This record gives sequence, C-alpha cells and structure tokens, in this order.
Amino acid sequence: MIPFITVRGGRRLSGEITVCGMKNAALPILFASILVRDSVTIENLPPVTDIQTTLRILAAMGARVDMLSPTTARVNAADLDPDAVPPDLTTRLRGSSYLLGACLGRFGRAFTGLPGGCDFGVRPLDQHFRIFTALGAECEPDANLLRVRAPRGLRGAAVRLSFPSVGATLNGILAAATAEGTTVIENAAREPHVADLAAFLNACGADISGAGTSEIRIHGAKILRGCRHAVIPDMIEAGTYMAAVAGTGGRLRLRSVDPAHLAAVSEKLTAMGAQISASGDRLTLCRTSPLLGADIEALPYPLFPTDMQPQFAPLLCLSSGGGRICEHVWESRFRYVPELCRMGAEIRVDGRCAFIRGGAKLTGADVAATDLRAGAAMVIAGLCAGGSTRITGVEHIDRGYPDLEAKLQSLGADVRRVGAREP
Ligand code: UD1
Repeated sequence: MIPFITVRGGRRLSGEITVCGMKNAALPILFASILVRDSVTIENLPPVTDIQTTLRILAAMGARVDMLSPTTARVNAADLDPDAVPPDLTTRLRGSSYLLGACLGRFGRAFTGLPGGCDFGVRPLDQHFRIFTALGAECEPDANLLRVRAPRGLRGAAVRLSFPSVGATLNGILAAATAEGTTVIENAAREPHVADLAAFLNACGADISGAGTSEIRIHGAKILRGCRHAVIPDMIEAGTYMAAVAGTGGRLRLRSVDPAHLAAVSEKLTAMGAQISASGDRLTLCRTSPLLGADIEALPYPLFPTDMQPQFAPLLCLSSGGGRICEHVWESRFRYVPELCRMGAEIRVDGRCAFIRGGAKLTGADVAATDLRAGAAMVIAGLCAGGSTRITGVEHIDRGYPDLEAKLQSLGADVRRVGAREP
C-alpha cells in the first residue's frame, strides 16, 4: 500500500515544538568525517531518511558508524574505501555529491553516481568542478558518473563562484580543508550550514575563516583529528511550523532555534499579520488578526530562502491581498502549484514567478507531495482547508521532517499517516 498522510483542516494550532538539527548542515558534516582519521561524534542529527541514507553510504564504504542515541552518531572513517560507493544509495540524495569533495581531499580521487534529491529542473554541478579544477583536480563527468582525480595532490587557489552556490561552497571547503596552501572562495554561499561545516572542521583542527560571509579562506591542515560537534537547529523546519500556525491562526512556541537564521521568514510573517518575539533559543509566533498579502523573492541567504517559498503559497492564497512569489534560485520550483489549485487556489505561473490571488477558500482534496518542501506546503494547505486532504508522496516529506505528524498533533492538528514509513 502506498503510504499517505490525511489532514482534516480547520483547527487553530497551539503549543510548543522542539526543533531538530538541520538536515542540510548534518549532511556535509557527516561526509566531512571522511577527512578525519579518528572518530567524530555528531550530535543533534535529525531523525530523517536523508540522514539514515548518508550513514548507510558511509557504512557501506567501510566507515564504522555507531548510533549513540537516535540523534547522535559516532563515525570512524579510518578504513573507508573511496571505491566502494553504493550507487543505489547515492542516487537517493543530492547531498551525496559531498562525497566528491571529501574523498578528493582525503584520497586524491573520488567518484559517485549522479546525485538524486528534489527535482527543480536542471541542477548543474559546474561550480563544484570549477573549484576542484582550480585546486588541481581533473574532472570527468559523464552521463552516469561523476569522477574527480588529483594525482599530483590538491593545491590551494583563489576561485570566484558565478553564483553563491551552497553545494559548491561546501564541496570547495571539503576539498580544500586538507589541501596544500591557502584557498580563497569568493562569492561564497553565506548560509548557516556553510558556517556549521566550517565550525565542525575547525573543531577537528582545520583553519577556515570567513564562513558565513561571501569570502572564505581555507589554510590547508595536514591532519584532522576527531571532535564532538552538535549540528545547528533547522531553520527550515522551524519556518515550516511558523508558516503552519500563521496559516491556521493560533500560538506557537519554538524551542532550540536560532532566531537570527529566521530573520527573513519572521520579517515576512510579521508583514502578513503575525506577531513574533524571540529570546535566546526560543521564538513565539501568534496570529489572531486576518492574514495580509505579500510579495516574496526567494534568494540566497540572508534573504528569503527558496526552501520556504512553497510553504508560503497557501498563506498567500488565504490572505486578503494575495501576492507574488518569485524564485531566483531554481528555474523550476512551482511543481506544487497544480496540486494547490486542486484545493481551490488560483495561481498563475509565469516563468520564475507565481501570481497568487488572495481571498481563496481552500478545500480538502487528493494531492501529491512533488518534492520535500512542496510536501510541507500541501500539509499546511490541508491544515488551513475545510474538509479532508490526502497527501501522497510522503517519502519526500520523510527525507526532511522528523516526526511531522506527531509534532503537528501536539499542536492540536488532526493529522494521520496511513501505511508504513520506508525503512
Ligand atoms: C539550494 C539552495 C539551498 C537549498 C537547496 C535545496 C540557495 C543558494 N541554495 O542548495 O538553500 O537548501 O537548494 O532546496 O538558496 N548552480 C549552478 N552550478 C553549480 C551549482 C549550482 O549553476 O555547480 C545553480 C543552480 O542551478 C541553482 C543555484 O545555483 O540555480 C543554487 O544552487 P546550489 O546553492 O548549489 O544548490 P543547493 O546546494 O542544492
């Protein structure tokens, strides 16, 4: 039986949620353990399938992986074999491309199958290869395989990215962390997960400065030693629950967040009528007055994140004025629009912008999660809709949202999973 989630909408949500560690930070950190000769202990891993798949990739390649708790893994990659890549697993997630930077840095060679993940149209890797080439590697991408080799070793270099790509910045840091000499990445991605990878590697003895700004300097370290590191909180998980409660109305308290990472999302929700306050690692959101319309431009951090634009679409449908979402990171990230329209939304997509008519009354329907964040958008739409919504494609949601149903139920939502989770 194909599993699905049912949501009966129309309830105001209220309560407290503890936010998990950030999937998009945990993935490169887990692959970075390949660069370290002894054990690393990584805490605050989110219990989602992308993390389980990553741990299985590392184990299949010969790393020793011990789960010390459901959210803490000890990884020792001393005996890892860079040629033992399991293609059936690497094709499941985009983050498997970090094998390239990590294995290139450690072994001077790396290969992987084409990475999978969400389908937003073309997802090129040319900027990743640009950094590897600048460091002295030879790159041989073909139809089914990505291969990089540096027979004479890697040497630091200055590279300017044509776009602040998160993946290329992370892969560049991985490759350069133990290269000879100094690497400078200009126009680097500034996302918090870039800073978290650098913090992890620095705790292992790397010398990386500027992560979190658009110029990162990496002085290659001879050897990296084990450390203990806690992954930063997931701003997208936090933002998704904020959008859900802004949509239904009610009051949400979040624990274990970094409010600074949520500044762009908070600013937009405030403009739409929510009240938000934050102190330390806590954030409270309350929405009692009607939702107002807004325009959203999805751009690299610290601007509004592309990973939050689908979750805002149902809110704009319900708002008095509607609005526009323009996507500047991915060329094709509106595959969720026809699904939302099944629920009564009126949305017109023109190129990279979706124009959303406000004042809609959403009604439950059978819809599909077309990718991870699109799945979250369907759940939010279902929570705000009258009647019952049935969402298929839950395997996408399970890649990135720990205990989604249980967390929503704790806020008073009527959400249920039918069918088993993928092992
Ligand atoms: C991107 C998002 C990240 C989000 C993730 C999944 C940004 C900047 N990045 O990260 O926040 O979590 O998707 O939704 O918001 N590109 C190239 N060549 C490359 C690499 C990228 O042209 O070698 C282009 C892509 O086509 C895309 C843009 O750069 O238009 C962003 O890509 P990138 O940041 O690398 O993607 P992810 O790391 O997957």
